[in-house]
Amino acid sequence: MAKFIDGKIVAKKKWTDKLFSLQVEAKVDPFEAGQFAKLALDIDGDLVSHPYSFVNAPHQNPLEFYFTLVPSGLLTTQLVKLDQGDSILISRHASGFLRLSELPQAKYLWLLSTGTGIGPFLSILNTKESWRRFDRIILVHAVRYEDDLTYRESISKLLTEYGEQFRYIPFVSRAITSFALQMRIPQSIEEGLLEAHAGIPLLPESSQIMICGNPNMVKDTTEILLSKGFKKNKRKEKGQVTVENYW
Ligand SMILES: Cc1cc2nc3c(=O)[nH]c(=O)nc-3n(C[C@H](O)[C@H](O)[C@H](O)COP(=O)(O)OP(=O)(O)OC[C@H]3O[C@@H](n4cnc5c(N)ncnc54)[C@H](O)[C@@H]3O)c2cc1C
Ligand SMILES: NC(=O)c1ccc[n+]([C@@H]2O[C@H](COP(=O)([O-])OP(=O)(O)OC[C@H]3O[C@@H](n4cnc5c(N)ncnc54)[C@H](OP(=O)(O)O)[C@@H]3O)[C@@H](O)[C@H]2O)c1
Repeated sequence: MAKFIDGKIVAKKKWTDKLFSLQVEAKVDPFEAGQFAKLALDIDGDLVSHPYSFVNAPHQNPLEFYFTLVPSGLLTTQLVKLDQGDSILISRHASGFLRLSELPQAKYLWLLSTGTGIGPFLSILNTKESWRRFDRIILVHAVRYEDDLTYRESISKLLTEYGEQFRYIPFVSRAITSFALQMRIPQSIEEGLLEAHAGIPLLPESSQIMICGNPNMVKDTTEILLSKGFKKNKRKEKGQVTVENYW
């Protein structure tokens, strides 16, 4: 059972009708970029808690969480009602395997996300360690509609700071845009388009891949990578593909 402490909402951002970020002040234990905490609320006398990835890097304050409103979702329908000054419970300890310290060394780091799965990658991208360790980092954010491509300002700052070392590849599956790929991640790997847009080869000998978000995307993408010779990264048996399913 997670041990919860009090947190205070210090800011709230509404990106779209369904996408929100909450900034929280709370004295949590040290964590690693890519990990998650549990957020909890008392709902009709029951403590309801779910995991949410830190969007902020460990050295950044306040804590930040990015979530989608699940229609009829037990917790998210209450989280959206919170505002600046409200209280929230947060687990003191962070958890999660989606972190750089679990990754063997490689030349390239590929961060593949759908929807709110971009959160832990923003945390990772805001650490100095990621830029020290990898020659090139590719961030993929795959969403349904253009408005779902959130955190563009933070990404622009990273592009300015890291130049050629960083590539951002947005995917928008259900609308035509002038800049995003209109397809799904597994298809882009199969057809060689992801490599073409990244400008580097996607090979097991030079790449580490992190995948986060929609479990069907995680499964389909992992299957394609395994068929290309990649191996799952496990604590006891190191490989190149590290995943986190959001549901
Ligand atoms: C390790 C981990 C980290 C997570 N981090 C985040 C995060 O940073 N941001 C976030 O929004 N969610 C995250 N989730 C999902 C989150 O914990 C909740 O499951 C989600 O917010 C739904 O809660 P709920 O009580 O409102 O919905 P429930 O009443 O529990 O309904 C669950 C259903 O909602 C849908 N769903 C759940 N999560 C998502 C999602 N992220 N995007 C689209 N559909 C979803 C699925 O259909 C799922 O079956 C994470 C989950 C895990 C396991
Ligand atoms: N109940 C459910 O089963 C369910 C599932 C997903 C989302 N939702 C709801 O939808 C809302 C929006 O969430 P979201 O935008 O984050 O949705 P999402 O369905 O995760 O879509 C994000 C991106 O992932 C793509 N995707 C979906 N399945 C994939 C797969 N197997 N392989 C590769 N890519 C895949 C989508 O492509 P496409 O546009 O081609 O699908 C889209 O580009 C949320 O409120 C959530 O509750 C419900």
